[in-house]
Amino acid sequence: MERIAIANDHAGLEMKEEIKRFLEKEGVEVVDMGTNDSESVDYPDYGIPVARKVSSGEIHRGILICGTGIGMTIVANKFPGVRAALVSDTYMARMAKEHNDANILVIGGRVVGKGLAIEMVKTWLHSKFQGGRHQRRLDKIREIEREWMREPEKTEK
Ligand code: RB5
Repeated sequence: MERIAIANDHAGLEMKEEIKRFLEKEGVEVVDMGTNDSESVDYPDYGIPVARKVSSGEIHRGILICGTGIGMTIVANKFPGVRAALVSDTYMARMAKEHNDANILVIGGRVVGKGLAIEMVKTWLHSKFQGGRHQRRLDKIREIEREWMREPEKTEK
């Protein structure tokens, strides 16, 4: 069974609940890393643990939600091996997987409706990375990480 780590700040709580329900129906094991409260919190405190799990390989994929999705995207992309994509339509969600092999999907809980959010998650979940020239481009990004980032300890998947 696929496992997906999910986290949000206060601005993404309702959308997280909706996405969790959808994922569970799809047979995905959801690792909910908070917040589960509507009190204002700092998005890095919730984005970092998910990005760490994806970066280390402990979990293959994650979903992050904040108000715009911008803060969570900035945080997650600080981690080696993380390719976090902020999406706002289903075309972007498909491309995020097919071209960018995005392993974290980011959604703005104050930007898109819940129906669209579910469609985007579904699209990303079922799309396939196309490799080829896209892999070559990802390899170039990986080179930047090798130059500038310390590799995390790898955890068995
Ligand atoms: C919280 O008000 C908001 O700044 C946060 O959810 C997010 O949009 C940051 O990028």
